[in-house]
Amino acid sequence: MENKSRFRLGEIQGKRLARKIVTLPTLPTVAAKMMQIIDHPETSARDLSAVIRSDHVIASRLLKLANSAYYGLRRQVANLDMAVVLLGFENIRNLTLSLSVIESFSRNWRGHFDYSEFWEHAYACGVAAQMFVSEIQPGKAADAFAAGLIHDIGKLILSQFAPDHFDAVIEHIEQHPSCDFDRAEREVLGISHAQLGAWLAEKWNFPASLAQAIALHHTPEEGRDTALLPWAVHTADYLVHQLGIGFDAGVAMPTLNQNVAEMLCLPLTDSGMPDFEPFAGRLFQLLAQADSFFHFLHKEEIQC
Ligand SMILES: [Fe+2]
Ligand SMILES: [Fe+2]
Repeated sequence: MENKSRFRLGEIQGKRLARKIVTLPTLPTVAAKMMQIIDHPETSARDLSAVIRSDHVIASRLLKLANSAYYGLRRQVANLDMAVVLLGFENIRNLTLSLSVIESFSRNWRGHFDYSEFWEHAYACGVAAQMFVSEIQPGKAADAFAAGLIHDIGKLILSQFAPDHFDAVIEHIEQHPSCDFDRAEREVLGISHAQLGAWLAEKWNFPASLAQAIALHHTPEEGRDTALLPWAVHTADYLVHQLGIGFDAGVAMPTLNQNVAEMLCLPLTDSGMPDFEPFAGRLFQLLAQADSFFHFLHKEEIQC
């Protein structure tokens, strides 16, 4: 995998935090198996659905999602073979990864972290990232949705596996209101949720492009020029914050990189700033259309 050494735990070894998070959740086997076969040229839709079928919970959720209004398929998706054919490998991979991430973090809720709001933020970021990418690289739109949905998994790691560290970051932000979450983490912990999330994504063998989007969602300028996903997730995160959708622990507004307009071909206002107004309207529309998808996740997965 590209940049494999970049996010290894070695980066945080020697810190107390590293000792706390060595027992991270494992990725459900179905997702791990899928990652092994999905890029193989001889893998068929039937092979893929056989792997999914080995996990009854994920299989039935995937089938429900395939039949939800989000995909707007005109006919009933009766079985997994059909779901794989109609939605395509990329969509199925991303849905399986997303469901697996949610499942892996669903058993260890903490009292004062609002998971429902967290996933609302994450979900809106997925839809927004997809919206930006579908304008310029439609083939990457499904990846953008997955990247947006899971971009803040590092915060889940902190809140569930190192809660005292998480609280120390929140306290630091309360004392320094102009400090955003990413900077506060670096100052207090020496590592950010973006690095932690990317480390887990690599440990779980997620596609390199997803791990990179997680790693760089606050610093997209550190990626290769051609890497679109970090820019899309970065901009989606900013827009969703601006619009006050959901809650992203660490209330300070993320700083928007000045090059987003160029990278995502965004229109400009008279003052030369990215013009988000048309995108904001469109995002609310997409969120309303896709409501069934979020409510599916919300009701079936995110129960505190
Ligand atoms: Fe973030
Ligand atoms: Fe975020």
